[in-house]
Amino acid sequence: MDDANLMEKIVSLCKRRGFVFPGSEIYGGLAGTYDYGPLGVVLKENVERLWLQMFRDDRDDMYGVDAAILMNPKVWEASGHVQTFADPLSDGKMFNTMFKTSVGVGEEVSTVYMRPETAGGIFTNFKNVVDALHPKMPFGIAQLGKAFRNEIAPRDFIFRLRELSQMEVEYFVKPTDWEQAFEEWRKLMHLFAAAVGLSQTMLHELEVPDGDRAHYSKRTIDFEFDYPFGRKELWGLAYRTDFDLSAHANASSIELSYLDEETKEKFIPHVIEPSLGVDRTILAILTSAYREDALGGETRTYLAFSPKIAPVKAMVSPLLKNKPELVAKAREVRAELKKVHSAIAWDDNGNIGKRYRRQDEIGTPFCITIDFETLEDDTVTLRHRDTGTQERLTISEAASRIRSAVQ
Ligand code: GAP
Repeated sequence: MDDANLMEKIVSLCKRRGFVFPGSEIYGGLAGTYDYGPLGVVLKENVERLWLQMFRDDRDDMYGVDAAILMNPKVWEASGHVQTFADPLSDGKMFNTMFKTSVGVGEEVSTVYMRPETAGGIFTNFKNVVDALHPKMPFGIAQLGKAFRNEIAPRDFIFRLRELSQMEVEYFVKPTDWEQAFEEWRKLMHLFAAAVGLSQTMLHELEVPDGDRAHYSKRTIDFEFDYPFGRKELWGLAYRTDFDLSAHANASSIELSYLDEETKEKFIPHVIEPSLGVDRTILAILTSAYREDALGGETRTYLAFSPKIAPVKAMVSPLLKNKPELVAKAREVRAELKKVHSAIAWDDNGNIGKRYRRQDEIGTPFCITIDFETLEDDTVTLRHRDTGTQERLTISEAASRIRSAVQ
């Protein structure tokens, strides 16, 4: 498949099946904005939940925050964003890509920025988290949420947006320990890529050279992905040194150091930052998963999603819609499977082949069909998305298949 075509096909499937819609579409859209539809929102939540599990909840050294998007503008002055978060315009002038808005009324009105990265709300809460929870070094703070950038040229579907979601960690270490932490997070980013089903051959690391890194970074590895429109940045891993905590300590006159209770050593921690864009992850997942093949003499389109992130885990259907005993049994089986996972769909429209195709196109890993044999011996047909092969299993065997695939 040629790549220009692939992009068109992904965009069209996303619209047709309810994954992603252009923002404000009935008014002609708004550049750089997209809306997640019923299936997209579940796919996005599954990706975010997996990140929360791997980057925060499975670890004893990680803490979460959910900071306000609007912050005191001094945050972005201290962090260097007011001075340097800019892209060149065609005439050579620099254009700051932070969105401005105002808070307050009348005399009290003041200009604030929409956060350009979620990281800001992590650094400003460093002291709060230390004072409230007394974490032992090293530890990290994770935050997931919206960020805003007035990109000069938003493009490539959900790749370059003006309103985006980020999943970020700031991991605080002793200054001498940064290299070890950098390697650990690098490995975890690869594990996460595999867990969400990104094609390993399409993922590449780029050591960002001096002069090309963000103003706060001493070392950055970009995780690049082979999108249909070329190899582009998917995620970033940066060594932000003590740049942010020192800058915020100076600007706020609040001490942002860490006291090691055992050694009585006091220092400003250094920071490793794995920063993952949610929307770019979704587009990389769609690119990795999109397939066309011929099955039973017909061409079909399917999304080979990992069962862990597939928005629908299984579809249950009665072989014939007009046989009440089959419909009743199928409803019973669906209720049973819903105890394993809530995302078990129902479809009794059209013939069984059409139902399978519809599920293939949205990446549902399993289809379960109830027929007359089910009424006699409690066995069902379980069909596998990628191969189209079918097997006869008991209802409880089908349930445990689904359970082990989605967990
Ligand atoms: N806190 C570090 C930071 O924000 P960044 O490289 O500017 O670093 C991190 O952004 C990640 O956020 C990127 O790797 C990408 O996944 C995502 N991202 C950045 N700008 C984006 C945009 N305009 N649209 C969609 N995702 C974007």
